Amino acid sequence: MPGTPQRYTVTAALPYANGPVHIGHLAGVYLPADIYVRYLRAQQRDVKFICGSDEHGVPITIRAQKEGVTPQQVVDKYHAIIRDSFQEFGVSFDIYSRTSSTTHAETASGFFKQLYEDDKFIEQTSEQYYDEKADQFLADRYIVGTCPNCGNDNAYGDQCEKCGTSLSPTELINPRSMLSGNSPILRETKHWYLPLDQYEPWLREWIVEGHKNDWKTNVYGQCKSWIDQGLHPRAVTRDLDWGVPVPVPGAEGKVLYVWFDAPIGYISATKDLLPGDAWKPYWQDAGTKLVHFIGKDNIVFHCIIFPAMLKAHGDYILPDNVPANEFLNLEGDKISTSRNWAVWLHEYLQDFPGKADVLRYVLCANAPENKDNDFTWKDFQARNNNELVANLGNFVNRALVLTHKFFAGKVPAAVGFTTEDEDVLRQLGEFPARIGELIDNYRFRDALNELMNLTRLGNKYLADTEPWKLIKTDEARTGTVLHVALQLAASLVTLMEPFLPYSAEKLGTMLNLEKGAWSAAGRPDSLATGHQLAAAALLFDKIEDATVEAQVQKLLDTKKANELAAAVAAPAKDDVSFEQFQTMDLRIGTIVAAEKVAKTKKLLKLSVDLGFDEPRTIVSGIAEHFLPEALVGQQVQVLLNLAPREIKGIQSQGMLLMAENADGSLSLMQPSSHVRPGSSIA
Ligand code: 2FM
Ligand code: ZN
Repeated sequence: MPGTPQRYTVTAALPYANGPVHIGHLAGVYLPADIYVRYLRAQQRDVKFICGSDEHGVPITIRAQKEGVTPQQVVDKYHAIIRDSFQEFGVSFDIYSRTSSTTHAETASGFFKQLYEDDKFIEQTSEQYYDEKADQFLADRYIVGTCPNCGNDNAYGDQCEKCGTSLSPTELINPRSMLSGNSPILRETKHWYLPLDQYEPWLREWIVEGHKNDWKTNVYGQCKSWIDQGLHPRAVTRDLDWGVPVPVPGAEGKVLYVWFDAPIGYISATKDLLPGDAWKPYWQDAGTKLVHFIGKDNIVFHCIIFPAMLKAHGDYILPDNVPANEFLNLEGDKISTSRNWAVWLHEYLQDFPGKADVLRYVLCANAPENKDNDFTWKDFQARNNNELVANLGNFVNRALVLTHKFFAGKVPAAVGFTTEDEDVLRQLGEFPARIGELIDNYRFRDALNELMNLTRLGNKYLADTEPWKLIKTDEARTGTVLHVALQLAASLVTLMEPFLPYSAEKLGTMLNLEKGAWSAAGRPDSLATGHQLAAAALLFDKIEDATVEAQVQKLLDTKKANELAAAVAAPAKDDVSFEQFQTMDLRIGTIVAAEKVAKTKKLLKLSVDLGFDEPRTIVSGIAEHFLPEALVGQQVQVLLNLAPREIKGIQSQGMLLMAENADGSLSLMQPSSHVRPGSSIA
């Protein structure tokens, strides 16, 4: 076919191995990439799907520091979690490699060396922030300060995550070191820079002129704005001890900048997959179409910096497209690893065994392709119950169950098509090209919607023809209807596979039919008359309210934990003298009786044994926090000599002391072991 690429190299952004993968990553990058690749494979295209863990860079060292372990331990742990959860989710990488591999160290090092020998870098000594207390230069991510653009107090040295502006550390107002909290000082250090300014005319021609019409508006717009603002030399080495060592003289203690080494990771992973020279056509042959799937925060690196590196090197092809997505939010709030505000893939797979396809469906149907979108558990449940169960599953189930019931599970003969049948079969024939074209253009949501339109067509056809009633009067016509319906179901095995691979396989098993080539889907004769079907089973089942409510509760707990963690202690009160303190008679007492004070919401009447002949009565405003019966027997702290006062007609003779949490909840202040009632606190 003229214009069809000979082969495809499809990459998905290498996730940092500093934490597990969440639904935002999936919706933005890995799911669309997987749909695209599965579709290309069904088209029988030569495609390699490349990914791996990004194991260098400051996000890893920061995590190691937080967890009190080595960077290697961090990447080993998360690489395994990420790799396994991707696999279980059905992301069909041809290889999932890692940038701590030897192949990668050699490849990245060799790439740098060649640019160095070809004089593509400029060497520059500059002043960079140095933490005197920690005795090290500070990577951009180790410096926080106020964003000059939006005033965010916690902007990083390379980027403000609030407004998205790329920054350099010296642009931050009031910078501080994340290692010690101190203000860093400026100290001289030498680095190698890629002179992006020299590539500006070429980038303008290649992107601004060349990709105006085929790159997504959000991607094109971001690139154009970068180029219009003017490009500057960019340092590609760092003073760090974690990464690929800079392989040239005079670079001791320096490593490659993670954004220099990570994209080369795509090449190293391809080498791991195809050793010898076999990897080369996928990176060096002009007939190969290179597509990078990424999130919007990676656009500049994949559209400007990495292409400039590839261009400088000279042996490599450039990306044909970089279909970056926007972000997915969760229940109205930005997904955040540090705030644990996320649905983590490995946890989802544990909580919803066998339901990878449901999440694949929901994330694709609601993918943030052109704008940020929101994931909610209610929507997850509704899409499963109303779309997967009631539409797709219902159609397939009716076609199969009725065939088993009326025709012993054999595809019945079609005895003359009506115009209605012909119209349905004609429409069926149009779906593969329509869905395929949308996938070719990276419009995965629309493609999925078309797939669901096919199942809607099937449901409508069955609702209109009513084979369950027709069987009583016209068996031959019933057979024809089911024959047509089963052709639709057969096409679904191929057409739904990129989106819902597990369900496609299940359906294939039920129909006793393997997934076929994309071009063969939509045919009116995929299932021959007399073909024996296997047993029918439900493709999807209903998700109950309690199941999603448990997930919402988990998020509410996270929110509460975050609020507590963020709470700051109240300012200290004025000093008191020791003599003043001594005037307070603080004791331990045991509550012997407790009851609510009638006609009040907040008050409890307590009898507290304080070692005297009679227990004391204390009225306390804690009824909203404790059940009276739960307090009986508890030891508490009491201010004994608070002047007695009458509350709601009851004489209160002291005060209970409580700790108040940030969320307003109360805790009793109890001795660590039982003490004699009346014991003094001093
Ligand atoms: O943003 C990230 O998670 C990066 N680790 C992506 C790297 S993509 C590529 F260049 F390797
Ligand atoms: Zn900002």
